[in-house]
Amino acid sequence: MQAVTIEKLSKVYPGGKKAVEDLNLSLQKGEVFGFLGPNGAGKTTTIKMLTGTLAPSGGECRVLGRNPVSEPEKVHASCGVVTEHAQMYGNLTGLQNLFFYGEAFGMSRDDYKKRARKLLEELELSEAGDRKLSAYSTGMRQRLSLARALIHRPGILFLDEPTSGLDPESAQNVNRMIQSLARDEGITVFLCTHQLRYAEGICSRFGLLEHGRLLADGTLETLRRQVFSGLTVCVRGTNISGEISQTEKRNTVWGFDCLKTGPDQFEFSIGQEEEIPKLVRALVEGGSNLYQVAVKTKSLEDIYFALTEKGREVSA
Ligand SMILES: Nc1ncnc2c1ncn2[C@@H]1O[C@H](COP(=O)(O)OP(=O)(O)OP(=O)(O)O)[C@@H](O)[C@H]1O
Ligand SMILES: [Mg+2]
Repeated sequence: MQAVTIEKLSKVYPGGKKAVEDLNLSLQKGEVFGFLGPNGAGKTTTIKMLTGTLAPSGGECRVLGRNPVSEPEKVHASCGVVTEHAQMYGNLTGLQNLFFYGEAFGMSRDDYKKRARKLLEELELSEAGDRKLSAYSTGMRQRLSLARALIHRPGILFLDEPTSGLDPESAQNVNRMIQSLARDEGITVFLCTHQLRYAEGICSRFGLLEHGRLLADGTLETLRRQVFSGLTVCVRGTNISGEISQTEKRNTVWGFDCLKTGPDQFEFSIGQEEEIPKLVRALVEGGSNLYQVAVKTKSLEDIYFALTEKGREVSA
């Protein structure tokens, strides 16, 4: 069974705004899926439909085999959700908040007490456990929200920007926890974020959404191949400039497309790996002194900017 299946899902808000259009997607169990896209792309709307807090206008989705429209309680019981505005109680302590949700999910008192303490420890909140939530900082509140989402051992975790208010150390801690949940406990993670570098590190697959439409989905490698044809080879060397025009940034050097990126720094565009030795030979035989030759690996950020509208505008 797939963890999530989405078929032709769409959402039109009252007033006519099409937030999600004809979305098709599926997630395997244990996958950490990064759902990326600019502000207003429709990520939160999708999470709301998957978790049964918003009814779709068209299409269908299933979470661990259940339909959030017809079986919202069962979907709630199997999901953990961390959103930007977590609903918790300011006048209760961190622990009391977790106990409250443990009880609401029908866990035994012993079980939720043990689990709440363990989660607080993992999220480095043990010392704050007896403090009222109203005295928590944004980052502490966000971590408690993750503990709350995990209290009932959900099979799938929906995270909407879970590390946006966290300092680098806490963000790293939360990332480690997300990865180990997927690896050791088989939890499926559906993660919305703008933090591309962090997504690149922890997600096994990505979906890119813009204006409610899925632009692409796949592993980093699949997306790289889909978006970029050919390779970029970064070269640091001297005497290459003999052929480089001082006015044009882009030139042809020994038949290779070359972009000067800095003093003694160049980027050559080639079709495939086999051309690297040819390029190096041509440069050396042409009298260049080479200090460094490296294939530039396209990052998730490069892919994102190549695919999304704003990115295309910036690079145009
Ligand atoms: N309740 C609502 N009523 C009308 N329009 C809405 C409502 N909620 C969201 N929208 C619109 O739907 C679109 C998608 O919004 P959504 O919140 O899903 O985007 P998002 O990808 O989560 O963006 P962000 O990265 O800013 O969180 C936006 O144009 C937004 O203005
Ligand atoms: Mg959002």
